[in-house]
Amino acid sequence: MVAHIFFDHDDKCLRLLDQRRLPLEEAWVVCRTPEDIVSALQTMVVRGAPAIGVTAAWGCVLAALRGGSGDALEVAFERIAAARPTAVNLRLAVERMRRVRNTVGQHPADPAALQGRLMDEAAAMQAEDAAACERIGRFGAQLLENGDTVLTHCNAGALATAGYGTALGVVRAAVDRGKRITVIADETRPFLQGARLTAWELARDNIPVRVACDNACALLMAKGLVQRIVVGADRIAANGDTANKIGTFGVAVLARYFNIPFYVAAPLTTFDPSLPDGGGIPIEERPVREVTHIGAQQLTPANVPVYNFAFDVTPATLISAIITDAGVLRPPFAAAIAGALA
Ligand code: MRU
Repeated sequence: MVAHIFFDHDDKCLRLLDQRRLPLEEAWVVCRTPEDIVSALQTMVVRGAPAIGVTAAWGCVLAALRGGSGDALEVAFERIAAARPTAVNLRLAVERMRRVRNTVGQHPADPAALQGRLMDEAAAMQAEDAAACERIGRFGAQLLENGDTVLTHCNAGALATAGYGTALGVVRAAVDRGKRITVIADETRPFLQGARLTAWELARDNIPVRVACDNACALLMAKGLVQRIVVGADRIAANGDTANKIGTFGVAVLARYFNIPFYVAAPLTTFDPSLPDGGGIPIEERPVREVTHIGAQQLTPANVPVYNFAFDVTPATLISAIITDAGVLRPPFAAAIAGALA
């Protein structure tokens, strides 16, 4: 399984596997400043809700290491928290680092003490996320049958977390328990997280995977080629409405039509109980160039406007279960989520 977020304690920098260049090249990006972190988040060097939370935490460490304290440190923290709007893990991670800073003090007499405490917190968050994914896997593996083909959308794997993955963690755990599982990875236009990243990390782990165009979903389901759907999440509201990569909602509608179980896999750090439903989840709009071009090659006529919403919200009524690190939640979700978060 791939490890892709490394804090280098000697060189005082964060090394990130560059997900923009996979699967063709395994290149690393070195982040030394909070600005480097914001850029890595916005350009999707690193992506996936839990992974961007962990990266943000290390970004707060870099801000303190570069001499930040008081107002300057707060400005850097807020810039990191605002780098991407949809995944709640990002802001939650920065909130956690703020609490540590507040405990030590805004203007500590010994800056090394603050830096050390922030480093410990970021390392703890990274370890906690990897452990949460393994628990999600353990709970979710029971929902897959030997011989199942599981369709997934986007990449909710080791690359999107501190390791093991959420949706792919469920697959990994089922395979580890001796179940024969095949994965269909939706391509996931326009950034191709499925075709590039899910296919890459599963093939690397010798888990059978096949890529399909996003618009093949209905046919694949109609042909009986899909037994379960497992996807990740970027933010889950108090009633279970779930934001995830654009296209997830459509897959869920199809799953209901074809009577196929549709599971969301996510750690408790992805829940946002402050939002009663998905209507309040901010949906990121990304640069149109992601849609109009592939590399340098332009695909669409110049000056024709395009949409590039990066996420959509699947209503809770289309979700069969939410697999969390605290267990499998079933409808009615509002009560189940409140209980898990308590
Ligand atoms: O834009 P991205 O690649 O950050 O979107 C990622 C997703 O939508 C994932 O499915 C989600 O973050 C869950 S990752 C465990």
